[in-house]
Amino acid sequence: MKNNNMVLPSLKDARMRRNLNIEFVKYKLEDKYSNVGKGKTYYIYTYGCQGNEADSEIMAGILEGVGYTKAKDPLESDLVLLNTCAVRENAEQRIWGVLGQLKGRKREHPEMLIGICGCMPQEEKATNKIINSYEFVDIIFGTHNRHNLPKLIYEAYETNKKVVEVISNEGMILEGAPKVRESTYKAWVTIMYGCDEFCTYCIVPYTRGKERSRKKEEIINEVKELVSKGYKEITLLGQNVNAYGKDLDDGSYTFGDLLYDLDKTGIERIGYTSPHPRDMDLKAMEAHRDCKSVLKHVHFPVQSGNDRVLKIMNRKYTREEYLAKIRKLHELVPDISITTDIIVGFPGETYEEFKDTVTLCDEAGFEGAFTFIYSPREGTPAARMEDPISLEEKHKWFDELVEHTNQGYLNGHMKFIGKVVSVLVDGESKSGDGMMCGYSEHYKLTHFKSDDKSLVGKIVKVKIKEAKTWFMIGDLVNE
Ligand code: 5AD
Ligand code: SF4
Repeated sequence: MKNNNMVLPSLKDARMRRNLNIEFVKYKLEDKYSNVGKGKTYYIYTYGCQGNEADSEIMAGILEGVGYTKAKDPLESDLVLLNTCAVRENAEQRIWGVLGQLKGRKREHPEMLIGICGCMPQEEKATNKIINSYEFVDIIFGTHNRHNLPKLIYEAYETNKKVVEVISNEGMILEGAPKVRESTYKAWVTIMYGCDEFCTYCIVPYTRGKERSRKKEEIINEVKELVSKGYKEITLLGQNVNAYGKDLDDGSYTFGDLLYDLDKTGIERIGYTSPHPRDMDLKAMEAHRDCKSVLKHVHFPVQSGNDRVLKIMNRKYTREEYLAKIRKLHELVPDISITTDIIVGFPGETYEEFKDTVTLCDEAGFEGAFTFIYSPREGTPAARMEDPISLEEKHKWFDELVEHTNQGYLNGHMKFIGKVVSVLVDGESKSGDGMMCGYSEHYKLTHFKSDDKSLVGKIVKVKIKEAKTWFMIGDLVNE
């Protein structure tokens, strides 16, 4: 939708899945914008999923490419970007809070630019609220417009007016944009964008657009380059990673094929998030057995353990089909660790139906779970469904579920007592008691005694001696 100097979002357009040709675009910076940040500083606040973290690394790269340097203090910087999340109401509440803080700063320093990007601007309601109630925001752009950042900044300076650019329906893949990665040994590698699943509670297919895969050559080259720079671990990103490749050529090259090919690049560890249970095929599961680098962990979002609820969520699998895949994973890799996402209090869910989710947790043997109370998202089908259960009641169900999932975390840690695990070291542990920490190949947070900072970014062996709910403790093993 176009309105004066504003390109505004439309949920109706975002819902469309036209047969758009996917355009593979190489990032190109116009000379006109190449110094727009010279001598200036930036700060990016990142909320939500790993996809946003990866996008922020690209935006940082683009900003540094036009002369910006990173500020230590957001309130002292010339440009502040809020890379937002729209998946649940509370994620949005935090953004309104940060905007409140920035308002005072902008009053004292009107030359400071404030931009909002990511998923929230893709929602009509949020963008209207920003335009009408947060007039000090200078730039609003969505998930499809980040490569235009230098132009948007330039226009904001030139016109001194609010610049809004939010495209709702996109079939584009950007390659070759510069990145400033947060870590020197762990990297996000986006393999696909968007989502076509339309789970009835979820706003993501509207905010992130049509499912589209990067070319395998681009991904493999990116990983080879990471290996040559000394990176140890990659996490493949996508809203439904195992739909990878369905939109490319004849669709015969799958996510499983990609795992096998990436294993050959020499990268030491490969993780991914998130797969959709329906699309998890045998080849992807076998990669956990056959590929040394593929972690012995699957984050496998189930959402509910009740067939009626799964159906009205539009998840397209049953409890039994889900459990069959878990059994297969365990058959292939007996000690594989499985974690999940669960929504409590979906509209119309009864207590008996919720109890099916609790029993599923035990049956599936989840070793961790992200649990969420259902949050209505305007424009999604679930937001129009009858929802008679009070929030207070949902909180009680939630607490009941969390007792089970916490036990699952502990069980998952206990099974490693006496065993030696490989840990990619992240740094000092937060407890600050001479411990360091990192994640094992089953993606378990592991603490061990050491003050050797040179271990950061290296893979070490640790013998586990103690299990807690949130982490394991062990001793370094000298090889
Ligand atoms: N309410 C609560 N949780 C949600 N999720 C997605 N949409 C909603 C919503 N409207 C959860 C799902 C998903 C995770 C990323 O966020 O569990 O897997
Ligand atoms: Fe949302 Fe479902 Fe797509 Fe995941 S698969 S992003 S939950 S619509």
